[in-house]
Amino acid sequence: MTTETDHGVGEAVAARIERRWAILSIVIVGLLVGMATFIGIHQATMPQGRVETSDPKTLHLSGEFVESNLGTAVEADGSVTVRAIGQQYSFTPQCIVVPAETPITLRATSADVVHGLLIEGTNINTMLVPGYVADLPIRFKAPGEHVMPCQEFCGIGHQGMWGKVKVVDKAAFAKLAAARRRLTCVD
Ligand code: CUA
Repeated sequence: MTTETDHGVGEAVAARIERRWAILSIVIVGLLVGMATFIGIHQATMPQGRVETSDPKTLHLSGEFVESNLGTAVEADGSVTVRAIGQQYSFTPQCIVVPAETPITLRATSADVVHGLLIEGTNINTMLVPGYVADLPIRFKAPGEHVMPCQEFCGIGHQGMWGKVKVVDKAAFAKLAAARRRLTCVD
């Protein structure tokens, strides 16, 4: 048997639960906004001061992106830096070789128009804008091969603009690195 009082109690309970969920959803939204803000500021992705520029006209002639400096380099701290450029319609180097379980910094730029660099099976997906350097951290858990297509329409040859990333185990990479200053897996 329901009475007037029971109805009153039921409504009060429902209102309380609704209020609780409303507060919870506001807290979740607040938390997400807070996280996005923190990460943005922490990684300094917002301020323009972090932007690195390069001159597409002299890319091949001097500086970091000359051909002899492209490919994979081992740094003094054991980390690895990969330098690459995109141009109509290929990547240089066409095949990038890196060790597994090693912090890697990918630095890339474009020599002509806007290209995209995507490494399948990872969260690496960036634009290569002429005049700017893309700098991204990567780490591969296991050896394997990943295709690296250009994912930004860059002209009639866009469909054919593909590269490859070959991840080899640490020991095998160390052996390769001992023999050469800059590594690639281009045959
Ligand atoms: Cu390069 Cu599409």
